[in-house]
Amino acid sequence: MIIDGSAPESIDRAVASLRGDGVIGLPTETVYGLAADALNDVAALKIFNLKGRPTDHPLITHIAGQEALRHFTTEVPSFAQNLMTAIWPGPLTLILKKIPGIATTCTGGASTIALRCPSHPVAKNILRRCNEIGIWGLAAPSANRFGRVSPTTAQHVFEEFGESVLVLDGGPCGVGIESTIVDCTRGAPIVLRPGILTLDQISKAAKCAVQQADKISFEGAASQSAAPKASGTLESHYAPNAVVRLLSSDEILDRLQKITATGLTIGVWAQSRPILSEVSQNFLFKPMPNSPQECAKALFAQLRGFDSLGMTEIWVQEPPQTPEWAGITDRLQRAAHRGSEPR
Ligand code: TXA
Ligand code: MG
Repeated sequence: MIIDGSAPESIDRAVASLRGDGVIGLPTETVYGLAADALNDVAALKIFNLKGRPTDHPLITHIAGQEALRHFTTEVPSFAQNLMTAIWPGPLTLILKKIPGIATTCTGGASTIALRCPSHPVAKNILRRCNEIGIWGLAAPSANRFGRVSPTTAQHVFEEFGESVLVLDGGPCGVGIESTIVDCTRGAPIVLRPGILTLDQISKAAKCAVQQADKISFEGAASQSAAPKASGTLESHYAPNAVVRLLSSDEILDRLQKITATGLTIGVWAQSRPILSEVSQNFLFKPMPNSPQECAKALFAQLRGFDSLGMTEIWVQEPPQTPEWAGITDRLQRAAHRGSEPR
């Protein structure tokens, strides 16, 4: 059921559910989350069951502010402190060493914990109210079934879970792609999952050099197992029902000209409409925003939109290969994994 996230009675109802080991749909500035008390193993397990997510894929814990850190960690390197001071509340998740023995289910038994302080007013409100009743953090992965497209509206969450989950409506998410994840447990910051923040922004905020996990080789069996696991970093993720293909604008045009098969309906998301020599009924064009911020905001809703219109394939124009587009390119490549082919 969807309820108005700005109404005081909705907040009361959501907090009562969380107090009773419940799970709620929570708006954040990045995507909607499926939230439960992070320090409560019974509640956290319900998230894994609802999502169909393997229990060794740890969840992100959301906190009201730095004052809540002490309930989860006692080791905060200075660069991590710099990151929090500069970017929280905001779309940044930090992996830190965990206080042993706590939040076992939520962290999938790891010795580390992912912490994030969201800036969405409804999330902030809920977290503040939770603190008043001794709930210090909310575990919240994206509110979609495992491997599927993340939700950026309350309606998307409803489409995933139906009436079984109480969803606070906080409007469409302002950022649109998940937070940047930075591992702070390895001596220097390492970006595990790109988001809307650029490497340069992160490095300036951390006041030190930052590395990208995909540029570091975790070679050999022993160190491979030491490489952090992140489901958002699986090759195929964020996948709609339609086959997604990432193509240049020339390739889109070329392929559209050559379509002969009938029954193929293609959603085209590109910066400009492909101009064909003959009228084609086979594709539906939607304009892709030119700015990475606007594109990120629209991305998941657009993939869902094409699915709901019954498109068999979604052809997306490859974004520019610049740092501002890294998070969007990452999501699109994972969404397109099934549709990737030798080119
Ligand atoms: O923007 C976001 O981060 C959203 C909103 C709801 O806050 N949440 C989100 O959560 O994307 P989720 O669970 O879908 O993604 C969390 C990612 C996963 O890829 C998980 O494996 C990784 O964080 N993660 C969590 N704890 C970790 C840890 N201790 N070490 C390494 N990776 C971790
Ligand atoms: Mg997710």
